[in-house]
Amino acid sequence: MTTKPYEMWIDEAWEKVAAKVGQTGRTIGAAFPHVSKDGKYDSLEPQFWTSGFWPGLLWLVYRDTKDEALKQLAEECERKMDVCIDEYTRLHHDVGFMWSPTSVANYKLTGSEPSKLRALKVAAWLASRFNLKGRFIRAWNTNNWKSEDGNTGWAIIDCMMNLGLLFWASEQIGDPRFKHVACAHADTVMREFVRADGSCYHIVKFDPETGERIGELGGQGFAPESAWARGTSWALYGLAICYKYTRDDAYLQASKKVAHFFLANLPEDHVPYWDFRLTVQEGAPRDSSAAAIAASGLLLLAELLPAEESRLYETSAKRILKSLVDRYAVWDLSDEAILLHGTGHHPANKNIDVGLIYGDYYFVEALAKLRGQTEMFW
Ligand code: GLY
Repeated sequence: MTTKPYEMWIDEAWEKVAAKVGQTGRTIGAAFPHVSKDGKYDSLEPQFWTSGFWPGLLWLVYRDTKDEALKQLAEECERKMDVCIDEYTRLHHDVGFMWSPTSVANYKLTGSEPSKLRALKVAAWLASRFNLKGRFIRAWNTNNWKSEDGNTGWAIIDCMMNLGLLFWASEQIGDPRFKHVACAHADTVMREFVRADGSCYHIVKFDPETGERIGELGGQGFAPESAWARGTSWALYGLAICYKYTRDDAYLQASKKVAHFFLANLPEDHVPYWDFRLTVQEGAPRDSSAAAIAASGLLLLAELLPAEESRLYETSAKRILKSLVDRYAVWDLSDEAILLHGTGHHPANKNIDVGLIYGDYYFVEALAKLRGQTEMFW
């Protein structure tokens, strides 16, 4: 992908990102922001699934600017996350979200051996959550979100983005066993989560003893049979990652199918409402994070496909990103977030119309891809 003269907006947006992150690096520091309300990011404990995104964003900008201050902040965040590995029992399936943009990123950019070891340890943890009977990776622990019948047999669509860590680990140790776990989970997702029209379930429940499917939940979506926008993005991108590592055409076709559903259901400004199947969409909150994640996933599809096919995905990603740049991004320090109008968890009435750190991360990742930085941390 090259930046053409009439696409100066890409470089201009990147310059603004770099300038802003240079400044918010000083106000946010080595912390774990999640949601920005009233212009300021909160900071959560490192155990939360989003802890890797701020350090990951710092690495994305550092890769271009070589600003040592950003590198030091990212490394400090990574060290602070060690407590999660030591505690062990509170870890959940989102170790990919947490350690791919921190430790894998650090290892790829600096060759840090301690970072590589951290990422290998949490990959082993992730593989250990595989349920052999149901052939899925268990999502949460009982101290997280659960129902009356527990959550031992729950798998969620978001986990597709954790699989890259397993593929990466298999490559590092020269042993396909982690890859086999990733593929088995992804195969279950293609069969049990992705519907014929390319929409996806958020949560599927399995009997943890027999592996039998016992139901679905709406989760962060509007209803069990609806189509949560961000879940659609996780599936699109995660399946493309599976194809990148395996070259198994089934993952490519599934990713394309989900992408086509996503694109066909976008409103005029190319940024989805928080669920694609709301009874009334007009006036509903958008989810800018779903748009940013999908854009970055579409750019991976564009990279993996032959030129005559990739145009659709590249053009669509650019349309989404241009809309985010023009209508959703805030470049001054009136808000520490880069993207406004994200939706965290609508059914729980939590974090609606806010800045979300993962929206910022994937927006910056996608812009970096458009400027030729296609090596991923996933
Ligand atoms: N992984 C949870 C979310 O996307 O909100």
